[in-house]
Amino acid sequence: MKDWALIYLRCETCGAQLTNESIRTAAGDTTEGILICDDVLCGAWYPIIRGIPRLVTENLRTELTAEFIDEHSNVLRFKGLLTDSEQRDDHLHQLKEHINKHFGFEWIEYSRFGWDDPVYNLQNAEEIFRAKSLLNNEALANKLVLDAGCGNGRYSYSAAKSGAQLFSLELGDGVDSTAENLAEFPNVQVVQGDIFHAPFADNTFDVIYSNRRVDAYGRRAKGDPKVGQQIENRWLDVSSCVWSRKPIL
Ligand SMILES: C[S@@+](CC[C@H](N)C(=O)[O-])C[C@H]1O[C@@H](n2cnc3c(N)ncnc32)[C@H](O)[C@@H]1O
Ligand SMILES: [Zn+2]
Repeated sequence: MKDWALIYLRCETCGAQLTNESIRTAAGDTTEGILICDDVLCGAWYPIIRGIPRLVTENLRTELTAEFIDEHSNVLRFKGLLTDSEQRDDHLHQLKEHINKHFGFEWIEYSRFGWDDPVYNLQNAEEIFRAKSLLNNEALANKLVLDAGCGNGRYSYSAAKSGAQLFSLELGDGVDSTAENLAEFPNVQVVQGDIFHAPFADNTFDVIYSNRRVDAYGRRAKGDPKVGQQIENRWLDVSSCVWSRKPIL
């Protein structure tokens, strides 16, 4: 995880800031660590695994976390974090598990789709991204941007190249492919998280875009929390969408 990312991240359970207890680093970035909620009453913690903060509830984390706990049980015990915590009641839980599993499989299996596929390659992705989002370099350069439901990151690439400071958010386990695909960019932070419990402070982003129904469960999620106040109900009704603080055209 890049150092610059920490100030924007929030506990996905209570919204408080997080402290990074770094365990391993490479080239200044945390590759393994623990993000601990600053609100002691909340007590939530999240692993950073392979440089990706896994900001999803415990019941959505997969065997990755079990391995992490096995490996770092001493540190976790020392910090008093190895307790039996209650699983949060989330009526969409099963659906999210389903998304995690199936999109996870898709982006692991097709990790380079949209990158170096003979037809669906980066050039094609770039054209589609620009045509759909109407985001040009000027709208992205030096802006804080969220790609919500980024899949393997094929539409993060253009924003990253344009110089955006970019968070690529994805619920599924395919995030490891996303991080590998985007590894060359110091201005990109991949985060495993759920847009409906977005692990960011309200009004963080200058621009948010999403290609192809991040909700995947459409109307069933209506009424659930949004990305702070920036996301309106339109989110759930349109296929590709962009929100910006300023007019894009
Ligand atoms: C149709 S795919 C599009 C992926 C990418 N934007 C693209 O165009 O290549 C939708 C993505 O949203 C992710 N997703 C679905 N629900 C999500 C949620 N609640 N939070 C974050 N990501 C989610 C899925 O795992 C999937 O990768
Ligand atoms: Zn918390």
